[in-house]
Amino acid sequence: MASHTDIAVLYANKPLDTQVTVKAWVRTFRNDQFLAVSDGTTIRTLQIVLNKEEHDEAKLKKLNTGACISASGILKPSLGKGQDIELIADQLEILGECDPNEFPIQMKRHTLDFLREKAHLRFRTNTFGAVFRLRHHLAFAIHAFFNERGFFYLHAPIITGSDAEGAGEMFKVTNLDLNNVPRTEDGGVDFSQDFFGKPANLTVSGQLEAELAALALSKVYTFGPTFRAENSNTSRHLAEFWMIEPEVAFNDIVANQDLAESFLKYCFNYALKHGREDLEFLQEREINEDKLKPVEDRQSMPLIQRLEFVANNEFERITYTEAIDILLNSNHYKKKKFKFDVKWGIDLQSEHERYLVEKHFQKPVIITGYPAAIKAFYMRMNEPDAQGRETVAAMDILVPGIGEIIGGSQREERYDVLVQKCKQFNIPEDHIWWYLETRKFGTCPHAGFGLGFERLIMYVTGMQNIRDVIPFPRTPLNAEF
Ligand code: 4AD
Ligand code: MG
Repeated sequence: MASHTDIAVLYANKPLDTQVTVKAWVRTFRNDQFLAVSDGTTIRTLQIVLNKEEHDEAKLKKLNTGACISASGILKPSLGKGQDIELIADQLEILGECDPNEFPIQMKRHTLDFLREKAHLRFRTNTFGAVFRLRHHLAFAIHAFFNERGFFYLHAPIITGSDAEGAGEMFKVTNLDLNNVPRTEDGGVDFSQDFFGKPANLTVSGQLEAELAALALSKVYTFGPTFRAENSNTSRHLAEFWMIEPEVAFNDIVANQDLAESFLKYCFNYALKHGREDLEFLQEREINEDKLKPVEDRQSMPLIQRLEFVANNEFERITYTEAIDILLNSNHYKKKKFKFDVKWGIDLQSEHERYLVEKHFQKPVIITGYPAAIKAFYMRMNEPDAQGRETVAAMDILVPGIGEIIGGSQREERYDVLVQKCKQFNIPEDHIWWYLETRKFGTCPHAGFGLGFERLIMYVTGMQNIRDVIPFPRTPLNAEF
């Protein structure tokens, strides 16, 4: 096949007055002469100028939005507005026709809901091109960040026989015949006849396995898909999402916060550097969308400025107890504007989290020292506070517009305390013997956290629905494509 050049490369190198070939999809065709095409390598389209006489009319008629073409000619400086190069094409080939009466993605504004139904084609729009290029850059940033710091990338299993994490409802994995399920004597499912000889699930988190590796390799991170069968149909929850979970031996909860903060800032800076044009496009888009909203729902800062602001300013760090005090002393609380009551011991609701980050601090906030009763069994017990209340060395990072983006903790490394916690949380020791053994054989303080990849992408792109930052979202009653 003849070689061709990416449009991104043409804009970067501007090989003027040379012969080039581009292969791309038509966006618009004006005056039987000016073709705007995109090959998705950049947000920019390339203008192709056709000399009518050189191309037969039947071919020109096929240059509909969405058609795929190959064009060759000389690259020239452009006199037109909005572009500085154009291709004067003497050869044009239609690689794939596109019937305008059937193609759903036309050059007009489509709603995101409509495009979600057309997820197989929405990559062809500017918005989704920008989002998925940024998704790529952020994935790359994550590997770069950890690799530069001597972390090892660990592949945690996706199918797991353990359900100890307790992070959410699990999807079962089985190859039993569902129309003829083998039964035990007492009528239960006989999992001894199942593929693994016992119940198995899709993982909700790679953390426990990452801890095992960290207690040998010192610094590891996972980056993989995780699954939660929770029936929460919100704009921030997916049934299948990607999570990044670093785990570090010898880190305490403060080092854990430092790592998480510098990690997020690195990702923001990386996107600003490598995805600038896409961010500029998404910023424009957001400004236009905001015009349709009531003033109080609009962003107070444009997207790029927001990212620069959080990349350059310290996150706020407060304890759970301080967070509760702020909420109790707020006018919002006094005027009874919270739907859920506030008192020490509650799990913070998203309205509380939003108040803290969006109204009170207006920047990312790290909250530590949550009540032990509302957090996972593996989080390290703190000394009881002055009032004898039990807290754990947990941390959540909340950001404006999203709420929780990171959850993590220092881990309980003391064998006896951990065994005690397992009892309290009804986790049978024989389910988690391997985890407990690491606390018997050379245990050490260690800490880690989980970043929801899609929530990071939402924050960076300004997209408001998590379904629009993953190519094919899985949510309750939806596994199309
Ligand atoms: O707070 P979570 O449940 O923490 C864990 O799973 C720990 N094992 C992490 C660790 O310490 N290694 O989840 C971590 C993050 C959340 O802060 C959120 O960003 C994201 O994962 N998350 C989801 N993202 C999309 N859809 C869902 N249903 C999510 N549930 C959690
Ligand atoms: Mg959490």
